[in-house]
Amino acid sequence: MAQPRKLAAGNWKMNGSRAALDEIDALAKVLPEPGCDLLICPPATLIAAMVERAAGHIAVGGQDCHAEAEGAHTGDIAAEMLAEAGAAYVILGHSERRADHGETDAQVAAKTRAAWRAGLTPIVCLGETLEQREAGQTLDVVGRQLAASLPDGAAGQPLVVAYEPVWAIGTGKVPTLEQIAEVHDFLREGLASRVSGEAAHSIPLLYGGSVKPGNAAEIFATANVDGALVGGASLKASDFAAIAAALGKA
Ligand code: PGA
Repeated sequence: MAQPRKLAAGNWKMNGSRAALDEIDALAKVLPEPGCDLLICPPATLIAAMVERAAGHIAVGGQDCHAEAEGAHTGDIAAEMLAEAGAAYVILGHSERRADHGETDAQVAAKTRAAWRAGLTPIVCLGETLEQREAGQTLDVVGRQLAASLPDGAAGQPLVVAYEPVWAIGTGKVPTLEQIAEVHDFLREGLASRVSGEAAHSIPLLYGGSVKPGNAAEIFATANVDGALVGGASLKASDFAAIAAALGKA
């Protein structure tokens, strides 16, 4: 059975100026043989410059895209524009986009189609709120998000799925390993029914939410966890390198 590639993905969110590109040089220097794919998703204004600095060692991605290829959409960015700037991935449906901009599963599905159209690998994010977890609705919620955020025709397309419990993002709170395993097993099965057998097993499933150097190894030892989507800790090269090293060894 094909194994998913391991991916350590950093989400800089709305952080980082050109000076922060020095972190990329620092990252390239401290990186051991990582044994995993590395990705940083900086603010869109830094993508082209980061692609130059990363020189093929580290992939670069966007944090969102519009569903259309062009048009009257002030402030938005098309998947094709990200690709032209050198991005290889795009994060879609992050809970901060769902909360701040009211993004729906249907919009995430349309953006996922746009990413494929532009030759990008979408990282589709899903996860429950604390209220939903406490009400015992976690699997219902992520199951519904997976079904509705993934367009038809996912088979054969590049895809990464990230489980990010909303209550774990930026809070220092992390689900138990059993809770992570339960959701990741469930998502793997859900993908198998959508994408069919072998292909579903090669889709990287990332965990995201307060991943740090100190908890990375145990999270990566969990079944069906193929990497991480890292926010805060990706802003510091030494922390992100330590997380990538833990993934490489897992
Ligand atoms: P965090 O963010 O690592 O700062 O919790 C994760 C994310 O939002 O992708």
